[in-house]
Amino acid sequence: MNQDFTYFNPTQVFFGKDAMESLPAILEGCGESILLAYGGGSIKKNGIYDQVMEILTRCGKQVTEFSGIMPNPTYAKVLEGGALARACQADLILAVGGGSVIDCAKAVALAAVEDGDLWTKYWIEKQAPDCDPIPVGAILTMAGTGSEMDGDAVITNEETKVKTSCWDYAIYPRFAILNPAFTYSLPEYQMASGIFDSLSHIMEIYFSPEDGDNLSDDLAEAIMKSIIRNTPAAIQNPRDYTARSNLMWASSLALSGLLSPSKTEDWEVHQIQHQLGAYYDCAHGMGLAAISPAYYRLVCPYGLPKFKRFAVNVWGIDPAGKSDLETALEGIDALAAYIRDSRMTATLRELGIPDDTQLADIAATCARRRGGYHTLTQAEILQVLRESF
Ligand code: NZQ
Ligand code: ZN
Repeated sequence: MNQDFTYFNPTQVFFGKDAMESLPAILEGCGESILLAYGGGSIKKNGIYDQVMEILTRCGKQVTEFSGIMPNPTYAKVLEGGALARACQADLILAVGGGSVIDCAKAVALAAVEDGDLWTKYWIEKQAPDCDPIPVGAILTMAGTGSEMDGDAVITNEETKVKTSCWDYAIYPRFAILNPAFTYSLPEYQMASGIFDSLSHIMEIYFSPEDGDNLSDDLAEAIMKSIIRNTPAAIQNPRDYTARSNLMWASSLALSGLLSPSKTEDWEVHQIQHQLGAYYDCAHGMGLAAISPAYYRLVCPYGLPKFKRFAVNVWGIDPAGKSDLETALEGIDALAAYIRDSRMTATLRELGIPDDTQLADIAATCARRRGGYHTLTQAEILQVLRESF
């Protein structure tokens, strides 16, 4: 751990089958007016909405509903939520859903207390908030993004076709209720998408300097192996609590800051996926799965020792009699096989992108990150997209 670092995570986590029982005590200090943020209605079908409403009513809260938050939430939806939060003078925004709902709630926390062009200030210029956002609490229904325990709010501006995040400690959820059983009702496609998202978060951090003996890489390998081991069980039996609980905690830890100390972090796969998402409204984790093998094959020669270590330590590839490059590429082949075996989307066509006509525009508008082993040129981003098609 040769680089200095600051570690802080302000989210209080309540984890397990009975985690919801903590909600009344948590709500005691949270004020009277609650903005209940949720998505397209899955929480009404699986009964979570009824559970939450029963507790909020029992605790005497005034509830205003902010529903219809779409996957890949838009800036227009953020402004709608901000107006609603002001009208009801919300004391707390309670987000019940996956990453889209929680991200939107964090953005609404800003939009409720500040006027003006927030998009430019927070999402483009990445300024630190000079206001006090409304506190956010999260009840997670889909594991993957880590939004329940981080300070990112990823929002799509439909007018400018840009999807990007703003980050600050001020918008971390104050608390997160994580009940793995709440994910039982997820369609397999969304579950697999979330699983790959969490794996990708770890790889984005892992495939970057420093590469010497450091605890961050050791922890990353342990969590990646847990995700890979638990994936088949979660797919075979959607009610496997052990698998769901391991996968949920893994995804929360992945972006909690735990793995970041001493790492420069890459995040180019996420930049490419976010622009794919801005052009095509696709499931975030599935987009990452479709482009990751091509991306890592391109970057592999620039970070060969780490890709070899990934192959051996994470995928159990035997390096005997092979060159470092052969071993490293076998590791990426194993990742690609895991993607196919886990019924994740292995190509952009499988993701639902009908033709390659927009790929050049997507590549041209992609941000280029410098934290990994190789900073891609715009032409190389296009190459990754074409090879993933
Ligand atoms: O709309 P609802 O009814 O909530 O249904 C959702 C949605 O259709 C459904 N779902 C969620 N929980 C369910 C369920 N259906 C049945 N049973 C349940 N228990 O699943 C669908 C997808 O939900 P969504 O919230 O969009 O998925 P996810 O959690 O993958 O979030 C994706 C968003 O998060 C951003 C992504 O870019 C994307 O916009 N990210 C946020 C990050 C962060 N805050 O740190 C980091 C990530 O890298 C990512 O960028
Ligand atoms: Zn992600």
